[in-house]
Amino acid sequence: MTAEKKTSVMKLWGGRFSGRTDDLVEAFTQSVSFDQILWWHDIQGSIAHAGMLRDVGVLSNEDEKAIISGLEAIAEAIKDGQFEWSESLEDVHMNIEAALTEKIGEAGKRLHTARSRNDQVATDVRLYLKDEIDLICMQLSALQEVIVSIAENEAATIMPGFTHLQTAQPVTFGHHMMAWYEMLNRDYERFGECRARTDVMPLGAAALAGTSFPIDRTITAKRLGFSAIATNSMDAVADRDFIVEFAATSAMLMSHLSRFSEELIMWTSSQFAFVELSDAFCTGSSIMPQKKNPDVAELVRGKTARVTGHLQALLVLMKGQPLTFNRDNQEDKEALFDTVHTVKTCLEVYTRMLRSLTPLRNNLRDAAGKGFSTATDLADYLVRKGMPFREAHEIVGKAVRHCVQTNQNLSTLTLEVMQELSTKIEADVYEILTPEGSVNARDHLGGTAPNQVRNAAQTARQNLKNRET
Ligand code: ARG
Repeated sequence: MTAEKKTSVMKLWGGRFSGRTDDLVEAFTQSVSFDQILWWHDIQGSIAHAGMLRDVGVLSNEDEKAIISGLEAIAEAIKDGQFEWSESLEDVHMNIEAALTEKIGEAGKRLHTARSRNDQVATDVRLYLKDEIDLICMQLSALQEVIVSIAENEAATIMPGFTHLQTAQPVTFGHHMMAWYEMLNRDYERFGECRARTDVMPLGAAALAGTSFPIDRTITAKRLGFSAIATNSMDAVADRDFIVEFAATSAMLMSHLSRFSEELIMWTSSQFAFVELSDAFCTGSSIMPQKKNPDVAELVRGKTARVTGHLQALLVLMKGQPLTFNRDNQEDKEALFDTVHTVKTCLEVYTRMLRSLTPLRNNLRDAAGKGFSTATDLADYLVRKGMPFREAHEIVGKAVRHCVQTNQNLSTLTLEVMQELSTKIEADVYEILTPEGSVNARDHLGGTAPNQVRNAAQTARQNLKNRET
């Protein structure tokens, strides 16, 4: 630390609100308190940049060597928590650059040749986000895997399916689980597509117009592992689409987890009692001794709000900016970092929570038998006997009304009563009036029959397996 840096930092500690305006501005404009998270990628970017400058003859071999060993030492210090971040040095880039110059002298001052913080920060964030997307995709796969396992175990477990939250038709628990798998699968694909657009290198755009030095951007791109190079220097420093896209993808994922949570919250209630979560994933009440609350699911539903909010904030952040870089862009960081953090935390806890899920099969089966869930099957039965569907619908409606009035179920109606409704009804009707008969009958691609669920789970397993390679 230089004397000057120390004084500056001291000034901040001394109470920025009673001090001089420039202290306040310093605190207001700094980003190092949150963008230091980019340190590793910033150092990788600098090492690649220095290597390229040497390759094209702008930097000497000795300078490049000094820069690399200096940056590596700084990386060690940061990793060990020995690096002193200074708000008066504004951001992660200038903190690292200042430390480098302090360490190696003049060579450090040459690093920023043919570069600007504008292309530097865009490069850092893209490198960072590519890695984070990879981690998120791995977590998503793990979550999908748990869902597939449940689907396999519960392929034949009968439960009611709902529309309008009213009992609609019997389904299998496995089929319901595989619906969540499908949603997460689209999320996985979206993250992959977002990653492809993130995988474009802005470095070389410099401030906005490119640089007068004979840089070779293919060298830096190769060193940094970028698949593509930004083809317009102005777009390169102004573009934050990839961050907005990541936030949108994350908001969609969170919305899915939120809907899933909503179901788990209902299903764990004593009114539904469809599933049980282990004690480790629930909390109690300080006043009501009987309570076992699904707080994890509730919090995931709650955290969806902040991720959706970040998407909104990012869109608004970008909408009024003229080309090219504006300091507004600094505001993308906290939204992005919090989105990454929230998504990762939620995926991790969700996967573990689902592993602890026990479907209460008897309750699910009982619930599936209620609410005239096989009424459509009765109508389909009449259609198979030659009746037009609309007419069948009408007759079954009457049968349901009769059941409601006499407090019965479709399957408890006598054959005489049924035949009064339609002479087409015969004794074989009772087979199709059970929830088992209903789900078994839906044995086609995408249907709820246990057979189909097993097939879907098998395809899903293969899909997850293919990701590993
Ligand atoms: N802290 C800035 C950001 O987060 C880095 C780039 C600053 N560039 C500039 N010309 N002021 O975007």
